[in-house]
Amino acid sequence: MVEEIQMWTEKYRPKQLKQIVNQKEIVNRLESFVAQKDLPHCLFAGPPGTGKTTAALCLAYELFGEYFQGNFLELNASDARGIDVIRTTVKDFARTMSLGEIPFKILALDEADALTTEAQQALRRTMERFTRTCRFILIVNYSSRIIEPIQSRCALFRFPRLSREDIAGMLKFISDKEGVKLEDEGIEAVLYVSEGDMRRAINTLQAASAYGESVNADSVYKVTGKARPEEVREMLELSLRGDFVQARKKLHELLINYGLSGVDVVRQVHRETFNIDIPETWKVRIANIVGEIDFRMSEGANEEIQLSALLAQFSLAGQEIGKT
Ligand SMILES: Nc1ncnc2c1ncn2[C@@H]1O[C@H](COP(=O)(O)OP(=O)(O)OP(=O)(O)O)[C@@H](O)[C@H]1O
Ligand SMILES: [Mg+2]
Repeated sequence: MVEEIQMWTEKYRPKQLKQIVNQKEIVNRLESFVAQKDLPHCLFAGPPGTGKTTAALCLAYELFGEYFQGNFLELNASDARGIDVIRTTVKDFARTMSLGEIPFKILALDEADALTTEAQQALRRTMERFTRTCRFILIVNYSSRIIEPIQSRCALFRFPRLSREDIAGMLKFISDKEGVKLEDEGIEAVLYVSEGDMRRAINTLQAASAYGESVNADSVYKVTGKARPEEVREMLELSLRGDFVQARKKLHELLINYGLSGVDVVRQVHRETFNIDIPETWKVRIANIVGEIDFRMSEGANEEIQLSALLAQFSLAGQEIGKT
């Protein structure tokens, strides 16, 4: 018998608004809609893994109770089936009456910012036409990508990135429940790789826990394809000091030990530039070099050559700045 592996992000997804961490103000506003049994069209904006979809689901559970199934629909706007299918589905859902005592349904449209301006115009007309029977929750990463006439019809909710404490708290809670040994350095590592994204944090914890006895820095960096930040900083400092040969050796270690791609390395170098103790003018210079190399790689230049060029330029920059 094959045991079904359950995603912890689903298993521990909050079921009620009050279980959502950190988004206190948002939760309060949504709870007041539940109390009034009414809801405006909403726009949920924020970075990935901060609880937008979860909030839409909890809101619908609490409003509809047993009628949740028939009254709530979640669609992804970037769905491969195309905009026409979405249009038809939205209309069919929106124009029919809701079940139960709440006189409207809820349609959550994920990645609404993927819609073209034209598609958004059509959506706006649908929203207006069926307002009585359907309220829309548009979910986006950036609210600025939504056309003004829709924005002005929606109540805006901004979901900030989750704090370190909130994510750490959730990681400890889950590892207790799952009987996973979570080291302090493991928490640090998960926080580093997840950058305020709760989904990524929980997924990383789950993957790392399957990797070894306990979740520590080693297992976390192994499963995420990211290098330890100390090692990236070391490479950066070696090259800035002009030690090109040692810096390249370090680079190869990173590529081999962690299976990083060129782009991964460049991203991490960029991030660590702002975590090392060097003068502001150096950081400007480095950021500039990183930007150039990142661009060349995105244009398909050979990664190995570009990474060498990156370190070479750092060495040169280090020498020049050192002289002034
Ligand atoms: N504020 C939060 N409180 C508790 N759990 C959270 C929170 N935010 C995210 N999570 C957890 O992370 C997972 C992903 O959250 P969710 O799907 O709500 O993110 P999202 O904001 O919709 O992200 P995306 O923009 O990538 O769709 C959830 O299953 C849940 O377990
Ligand atoms: Mg989502």
